Amino acid sequence: MNAQFHMNPETYLDEIRANLPRYDELQEAAIDAIPFPPGRVLELGIGTGETTRRLLERYPDAEVTGLDSQPEMVFRARELGIEVRLARMEDPLPDGPWDLVISVLSVHHLDADQKRDLFRRVREQSRALVLGDQVTAAVHALPPEPGVDFLETAGDLAQWCGGEIRHSPVATSIRSRRPPARGERCRSSCTRSAIGSRT
Ligand SMILES: C[S@@+](CC[C@H](N)C(=O)[O-])C[C@H]1O[C@@H](n2cnc3c(N)ncnc32)[C@H](O)[C@@H]1O
Repeated sequence: MNAQFHMNPETYLDEIRANLPRYDELQEAAIDAIPFPPGRVLELGIGTGETTRRLLERYPDAEVTGLDSQPEMVFRARELGIEVRLARMEDPLPDGPWDLVISVLSVHHLDADQKRDLFRRVREQSRALVLGDQVTAAVHALPPEPGVDFLETAGDLAQWCGGEIRHSPVATSIRSRRPPARGERCRSSCTRSAIGSRT
């Protein structure tokens, strides 16, 4: 999923909650999956900063750096008073070492090779990784269109990042009644899980 969708920080939360009715549950599950009180934290694809906001409520001493490829999101997340860089997950990560790299609903924008490469780079610089993201449902409502593949399973992602699934899937609520158009595969038949953390 390399298509870069433009998201408006003013409307983002309303839209994501409409599309992913258990968005807030996923955010909480990601925070619950953090394996120890983190010091230096890097959030990938920080968006409006919902995950970091919750992380700082739970761990007020954490020092978070965020990155996002969309300038409007960078400006919005900086309102949390943290450092946020305009950068892509495919690029070299800001210098670690990090206690924790966390990412919610952002890594699915990468394709399988890019995910594996990202996890390798995270491993070199971080003690732990927590992902909360969209993964392929165990049972597909519809087969994908030719040329459109589904996302990976939570098990694949956990294996690639050397982690484990810490929470059961929290939702399987969005299924389209038609085959997904290109760039729409996340909506067609997927579930959202807080997955993978390692120490
Ligand atoms: C669906 S939003 C999730 C935002 C936030 N993590 C959350 O949980 O609400 C995906 C975010 O990832 C960012 N993004 C997409 N592709 C990216 C990439 N290749 N590198 C960095 N950020 C990316 C988008 O700009 C957007 O802010």
